[in-house]
Amino acid sequence: MAAGGNWKEMFHASETGDVELVRYHLGMGVDPNYQHPEYTTGALLESILKGQLEVAKLLLDNGASPSIIKDYGTETPMSIAIEEGNKAAIYLLNSYLPEESRNKEIAPRKKILITGGNRGIGKATAKNLLLEGHQVVITIRNEEEGKLLIKNLKLETKNHDISFLQGDLSTIQSCYRLIEKIKTVHSDINVLINNAGIWMTEKQLNSDGLEKSFMVNYLAPYLLCKELFPTLKKNKPARIVNINAGLYVKGSLDIEKTPYGLDFSKIKTYANSKLCNVMFTIDFAKEIEGSGVTINAIHPGIINTGLGDSPQLMSKLIKLIKRFWKTPEYGAEAPSWLAIDEKISGINGKYYNEKRQMEYIEKVKDTALRNNLRRKTEEITINQLQ
Ligand SMILES: NC(=O)c1ccc[n+]([C@@H]2O[C@H](COP(=O)([O-])OP(=O)(O)OC[C@H]3O[C@@H](n4cnc5c(N)ncnc54)[C@H](OP(=O)(O)O)[C@@H]3O)[C@@H](O)[C@H]2O)c1
Repeated sequence: MAAGGNWKEMFHASETGDVELVRYHLGMGVDPNYQHPEYTTGALLESILKGQLEVAKLLLDNGASPSIIKDYGTETPMSIAIEEGNKAAIYLLNSYLPEESRNKEIAPRKKILITGGNRGIGKATAKNLLLEGHQVVITIRNEEEGKLLIKNLKLETKNHDISFLQGDLSTIQSCYRLIEKIKTVHSDINVLINNAGIWMTEKQLNSDGLEKSFMVNYLAPYLLCKELFPTLKKNKPARIVNINAGLYVKGSLDIEKTPYGLDFSKIKTYANSKLCNVMFTIDFAKEIEGSGVTINAIHPGIINTGLGDSPQLMSKLIKLIKRFWKTPEYGAEAPSWLAIDEKISGINGKYYNEKRQMEYIEKVKDTALRNNLRRKTEEITINQLQ
């Protein structure tokens, strides 16, 4: 069973998730399918039981049988994964099992990219989707924060298929840089969740001369959708979820002022940017109808996150009120549902208030206004690239 390696040590390393030690013993010739008479189990069965999926994958890659039966019992890695409710383990085992032995109960696995997944609703959505066994990539501005977050999410969800890409959405060029990274490293994504968002309490222009919430809440999702559409189409069925806000109904658009913050207001500017986001969602849905990719917008609820926090606005009273708002976990429910639920596949161009489909307000049905926005957006993006 082993030529120089030590099965017991490898078994315990499988339990604790010590990938390098398992690799070492496999390299020393330990048989990944050996089941010790005292332990009456093997390394793969144990790694699945303990949710150590990096180890499980290593063992499978090194010849461990995905359908091994536990000595003196009937359990298999799959029966353990089901018993533990570990969907990531079910997906992993399915990818090593022959077609006829796969678990067919589970919906197809998705690879989901979430912008701004480091806190608030984005982070809670990432966690939800990992617990559902999907592969998740988040975009994050701070590299160090990203590394720590990934480590913690792996521990909390027992799903190791989480990674991050560093990137900022506050200028046109920085969006394009992030988009290029996504295309290069994650060309297999089939869900895009445009979550990153800001509520500016004072006017700030970016280096393109654009007001920052117009940039982050509208133009960045616009660029991500346009540029990643071919990738998503290639991986169809695919979905785009735009995290919008019920406040879009209060928004207005002055095409010569809004992009440049010339009509800036602490309250209305956020709503204006979400209005633009809704108008784009409607037009893009028409453009991609029948392509196998869908796009919808959603209001996730009124959620206690860091959104809009600022020394000026955050009076003691607002801080107190926020404590009664719903949790980020609650806020992640509806976006996660819109991203993966099989029952709503094919729905395109709709707006949801949490899980309830809503009529659009008259303002966004105005084709002339939407055309103005589209023309202006094309003008802005083309100019910046010249
Ligand atoms: N909270 C609510 O009640 C509510 C209601 C309706 C809609 N929404 C929408 O839900 C989404 C998430 O908001 P939240 O409440 O979770 O807010 P949040 O806690 O403030 O999180 C915002 C996220 O966006 C990221 N972000 C901000 N500026 C960015 C930039 N320039 N480039 C890349 N990422 C950037 C943040 O990253 P950093 O950590 O690096 O800043 C953070 O991950 C937003 O689109 C928001 O409009 C929220």
